Amino acid sequence: MCGIVGYIGSKNATSVILTGLKRLEYRGYDSAGIALANGSLTVCKKAGKVVELEKAVKAAQLRGTLGIGHTRWATHGAPNDVNAHPHTDMENTIALVHNGIIENYAAIKQRLQKQGYVFRSETDTEVLTMFIHSFYTKTKNLEEAVRLALCEVEGAFGIAVVSTLEPNVLIGARRGSPLLVGVGEGENFLASDASAILQHTRNVIYLQDDEMAILTKDGYTTKTIDNETTDSIIHEVEFDLESIEKGGFDHFMLKEIHEQPRTFKDCFRGRLLASEGTVRLGGLNPVLDKLRRAQRIIFTACGTSWHSALVGEYIIEQLAGIPVEVEYASEFRYRNPVITPDDVVIAISQSGETADTLAAIKEAKLKGATAIGLVNVVGSSIARETDAGIYLHAGPEIGVASTKAFTSQLAAIMLVALYLGRTRRLSQRDGMEIAQAIERVPEQIQAILDHSSQIQSIAKKYAKAQNFLYLGRGYHFPVALEGALKLKEISYIHAEGYPAAEMKHGPIALIDENMPVVCIATQDEIYDKVLSNIQEVRARNGKIIAIATEGDTRIAEFAEHVITIPNTLPMLTPVLSVIPLQLLAYYVAVERGCNVDMPRNLAKSVTVE
Ligand code: M6R
Repeated sequence: MCGIVGYIGSKNATSVILTGLKRLEYRGYDSAGIALANGSLTVCKKAGKVVELEKAVKAAQLRGTLGIGHTRWATHGAPNDVNAHPHTDMENTIALVHNGIIENYAAIKQRLQKQGYVFRSETDTEVLTMFIHSFYTKTKNLEEAVRLALCEVEGAFGIAVVSTLEPNVLIGARRGSPLLVGVGEGENFLASDASAILQHTRNVIYLQDDEMAILTKDGYTTKTIDNETTDSIIHEVEFDLESIEKGGFDHFMLKEIHEQPRTFKDCFRGRLLASEGTVRLGGLNPVLDKLRRAQRIIFTACGTSWHSALVGEYIIEQLAGIPVEVEYASEFRYRNPVITPDDVVIAISQSGETADTLAAIKEAKLKGATAIGLVNVVGSSIARETDAGIYLHAGPEIGVASTKAFTSQLAAIMLVALYLGRTRRLSQRDGMEIAQAIERVPEQIQAILDHSSQIQSIAKKYAKAQNFLYLGRGYHFPVALEGALKLKEISYIHAEGYPAAEMKHGPIALIDENMPVVCIATQDEIYDKVLSNIQEVRARNGKIIAIATEGDTRIAEFAEHVITIPNTLPMLTPVLSVIPLQLLAYYVAVERGCNVDMPRNLAKSVTVE
């Protein structure tokens, strides 16, 4: 949510920043802007995507070797040129870009207005800029002014600041919102994620909450906003440039859907001990004892990650017999949940930066629970805040609609469930059967992908529908929710996921001949029950798109379209049944001419509450 790039060095800062912003655009794309601070301050900002900014920057012929840039997802104020970042003070001395929300901005604004400050935008960011300026007029030192201002700020921020009076300094700071330092040779960078600067350096320092970085061309220091010097560890970024490019696909989403045979495997590679029917989870070592003795597991997550948590509830209860609860992170934090030190709270997050999930984990830890993270982005806030965790190793997910992260989350959950099962009640033989089934999943995903053209033609047929219903039972109820979410977020068609049997308690009223109903009806112990639910839809002329098991000879009689998936253990079917739903959503959105990778109003990681 909002992307930040900062550069200090000898190169043309404009092109470094623009390239970085394009890579960060998936974080927010309401507006973009850039400020260069060599001698004087030049600011260029535009509503809309980075490409609009690029045109304006070319026309203005911006040049300089120190600058900051921003791509915005609007929180305070409409997405227009004025509200776009960077913001400057009234004298055009300092420029600032910001990711997060300054919660006490109204009080600070009032204070500043009394001192004669005049505001042009509706943003909390302009308030922070002026606030820093108010200290700068006294301290004449940018680092000190930023530090003093941040000590009084409430809320979340990742910021980058420059001043025309100090053309050799670039300052960054964070609380809540991610920010890292890229360490180069004769140049240094700030970025809200590593993809923005990867072509210049792989060496990064992840700033901690309330930490600042003071960068020059040739060096950097880090300190807390309380003015204590900190030790910074340089990490090497593991992914490469290729993984953040489209690789011949039309969209990142399609590329990421097609990556799933590999990404699913990457999550269990080296962890699944198939011949012993168990798993080795080195990342959980610090908490294994707590996990084994857990009285209850609570999953907390948002969006797609919450759907994988629901699957996790079913699998862990099935394999290990431990009570599991699943909480929306945004609700968990504010409802005073009963948590005990015997609870293990598992946060699931692709980005590792989702503000609600991060807050939920902090709350759980305050109440004495053990916190585990199933996170994709290495070094992210949730990964650092939790006591232990499992990285998904899915590689960067750029498409705003989460796809490969979901199936990797299911892989990680399977590993945890298998581990717990084996420590409690699962025999080695059963463990081996599950492990072998997991090993077959990548090729089964590939088999579904190989039949994408069938799904594409179904998508064409229903692309003009106004509503969709998704039905599933058991393990497939969360998949129904996920299918509906995918469709609505990228095609803007209203879609609802429902437990198939629950439909007759209300949603059945919606069904008529214009309603496509996607029913997940694989051959498991409730197959016949789902067939009955399908007949209820048919009786009201709904159009059935069935997701069924290969070789099912009965289902065609009840459905307009049948998409088959290979047979696997019921607990693994969500990994397979979700693939056609991802493809269906993708092709419907393309057919409707929607911007699949940057759907309206959304951003990839939601770092505000
Ligand atoms: O990064 P996270 O997994 O914590 O993100 C959670 C949700 O914001 C995310 O899954 C969102 O719902 C996606 N747009 C779904 O495709």
